[in-house]
Amino acid sequence: MINIQKAAIIGCGFVGASIAYALMQKGTFSEIVLLDANEKKAEGEAMDISHGLPFAHAMDIYAGKYEDIRDASVIIITAGANQRPGETRLDLVQKNAGIMKSIIREIKRVKCEGILLIVSNPVDILTYVALKESGFPSSRVIGSGTVLDTARLKYILSEKLKVDSRNVHAFIIGEHGDSELPVWSCANIYGIGLGDFAKMKGYKNFTSEMEEIYHAVRDSAYEIIERKGATYYGIGMAAARIAEAIVRDSHAVVPVSVLLNGEYGLSDLCLSIPAIVGSEGAEQVLEIAFNEDENKKLKKSAEELKAVLHTIQ
Ligand code: LAC
Repeated sequence: MINIQKAAIIGCGFVGASIAYALMQKGTFSEIVLLDANEKKAEGEAMDISHGLPFAHAMDIYAGKYEDIRDASVIIITAGANQRPGETRLDLVQKNAGIMKSIIREIKRVKCEGILLIVSNPVDILTYVALKESGFPSSRVIGSGTVLDTARLKYILSEKLKVDSRNVHAFIIGEHGDSELPVWSCANIYGIGLGDFAKMKGYKNFTSEMEEIYHAVRDSAYEIIERKGATYYGIGMAAARIAEAIVRDSHAVVPVSVLLNGEYGLSDLCLSIPAIVGSEGAEQVLEIAFNEDENKKLKKSAEELKAVLHTIQ
């Protein structure tokens, strides 16, 4: 029996701990169980976050074992090596694919019925690996994908245009990585086309800014890793946002990494496309009329991911 108010986080490194902290602050779940190969790390993170509960919401957060996650409604997987300076996310694939398979085998052993939210990188590849290894319906295995990249795009546009980032509607699709792409054709500020809004803010030709903005989004992780060694707060909040859509069954549109079955002429791979997310996971992958350039770049991104998928034993 699923406990909708319960989440599990597998992997308590910087990212897993940041997700736990974000979920505690938001009061999304009443129970969170933390798992890590290093049990003491999971215990320490649970203790540290628990000591903040008097400032937040009553909930139970504790270190546990796979047997403790059986009834969790959302199982968030962050375990695996993360990028070192100069490494791409795809460089992590062989090692992290092996770790993911072993985690999924444990999840199947204890007969979890919740939604799997994959965060480990390369997230599109590992979402596919988790889906195939689990045999779960594709709606039940999703990845954090370009939800963080989309937040980065919104933030950078908000800075450029001096507007609240929550009024910026724009998104990134494809690989969570170097081949990701912005969907400029859909970008708007409070319903006002991006170009028209930019003109209102004094830009003569905002199009010339777009390439630089895209590169800043795409390369954000490299820039942060070079400065502080890892990224975790942004992804922590992005994963918490997705988990919230699941637990509240809010049918939120988020660009999660999902299995494609012919959408956009693409099949048998996972990458990010806006999808409707609720208690059943990815309920509907949206088929949006991208322009010719966007469709071409999406196909290229898919080809990059497929090339990596073929390398996995
Ligand atoms: C980043 C990691 C989560 O983009 O891939 O910060």
